[in-house]
Amino acid sequence: MSSSASPQLSRHFALIPAAGVGARLGGALPKQYLPLAGKPMLQYALDTFAANAAIAHTFIVVSAADGYIDDFLATQAQLAGKVTVLRHGGDTRQESVRNGLLAIRALVDDEDWVLVHDAARPGLNDTLLNKLISALQDDAVGGLLALPVVDTLKRSVASRVQETVPREHLWAAQTPQMFHYALLQRALDQAQLQGRVSEITDDASAIEMLGLQPTLVEGSPRNFKVTLAHDVALAELFLQGKP
Ligand code: CTP
Ligand code: MG
Repeated sequence: MSSSASPQLSRHFALIPAAGVGARLGGALPKQYLPLAGKPMLQYALDTFAANAAIAHTFIVVSAADGYIDDFLATQAQLAGKVTVLRHGGDTRQESVRNGLLAIRALVDDEDWVLVHDAARPGLNDTLLNKLISALQDDAVGGLLALPVVDTLKRSVASRVQETVPREHLWAAQTPQMFHYALLQRALDQAQLQGRVSEITDDASAIEMLGLQPTLVEGSPRNFKVTLAHDVALAELFLQGKP
């Protein structure tokens, strides 16, 4: 997939970490395979990326022990040739992302964009994806979808309010998070070398550790991360509604 014809043109690749077990949600299946409004959670993000002409290819990182992905993809004719499974899942999300980046090293140019997206965010749609891609097209650093915080925030001590935290300038990070391949790989390697991996809860935080400032692009509540059992009904409301 290396482009020798126009190396100056950055392509866009999606990288979907999907090697978690969904411990907080519970349930018999890893949550990425949980049916939501009639389709496995994972299918929503895969379909959105596969249908977007700006996305050159999608890579999905699953655990080596994943016993569902092959059967699932066998039923998805619309994804044929557009999705590659990487059985390189790690113990944490960041390890899965890092392993995935290493696995695609030979296929991707340094300046190509990588859009890292949680399998657990089925609400990503074409509008949000296009908004992110066009907002960051000429961005020197890259960035992420995020939502300005609207609730009043409290810091707690033993379930009592210690203080109210000003919400001004606070955003809740979503995905995709979009960075050039080489920059993201360097950022994650550096965090590993510095022993700061546990501080990284998303891809952007690794970039921030290099002293860079990713751009925030306003996302949507529909792109929330399905994490707890009560999130399932809300996700189904969004997914059954208009895109
Ligand atoms: N993920 C991953 N590898 C891991 C852990 C998580 O690829 N070792 C992925 C998940 O599959 C998910 C995304 O990272 O798509 C966001 O993680 P999260 O919502 O925390 O999912 P889980 O880790 O599966 O859930 P939990 O933390 O409740 O176990
Ligand atoms: Mg997790």
